[in-house]
Amino acid sequence: MRKKIVAGNWKMNHDLAQTEMFLVDLKKQVLPEEVTVMIAPAFTNLNHAFNSLREHPVTVAAQNMHQNNNGAFTGEVSAEMLKSLGVETVIIGHSERRAQFNETNEILSEKVKTAIANKMTVIFCVGEELEERKQNNHLKLIESQLTEGVFQQPETAWKNIVIAYEPVWAIGTGETATPQQAQEMHQHIRTVIANKYSKSTANDVSILYGGSVKPNNASEIFNQPDVDGGLIGGASLEVESFMKIVNAF
Ligand code: 13P
Repeated sequence: MRKKIVAGNWKMNHDLAQTEMFLVDLKKQVLPEEVTVMIAPAFTNLNHAFNSLREHPVTVAAQNMHQNNNGAFTGEVSAEMLKSLGVETVIIGHSERRAQFNETNEILSEKVKTAIANKMTVIFCVGEELEERKQNNHLKLIESQLTEGVFQQPETAWKNIVIAYEPVWAIGTGETATPQQAQEMHQHIRTVIANKYSKSTANDVSILYGGSVKPNNASEIFNQPDVDGGLIGGASLEVESFMKIVNAF
């Protein structure tokens, strides 16, 4: 069953004290039952956030993980380490990781494989640069990111895969895709998944939109038939704006 999801990707923001302040405030909020609410703090704050939210219906996710289970990978964190904290959801393939940390589709495919093998839920990010959209290459590009990154997975894995469409030109820029642009791409993603797997799998996968989602534009984007929620950066750092987005369906 397709779920409504609002996930906050905090990126490299909020230290331990700021995380705690956010959590104290978040725990006072009434959350809509039909929306899965997630936050993805930095690795250093995952343990605290997970323990603090034990009794609350908020999922704590990691922003990244390594494709190997252990070994000589200085500075990296594995799926097993995340799971030992209780963290079972991970964002893979964010455009910032693709662009700044050289994460290729091949590496991302390995990460997805490891996460699924560890029974984790994957939020797999795809998105085009502005130039690709200008050249009308965006639909094809997203298809190849899916093909190379997640289509190695068997159909059964898709109950644990969420797709996040995040056009790179809309991330942190204040410029969002129009609701029509988001809908066009989300529908395309669903079609591509249906062609590879089945209509029912495509219909059941949650597809989130990310890129300058704010309290004032979340509703019109979330109202699109193939948009199942959002992956939120800047506006997820404060409880007030995050909650307005959580309540925007
Ligand atoms: P912004 O909401 O700050 O544009 O970031 C989106 C994003 O990259 C979420 O992963």
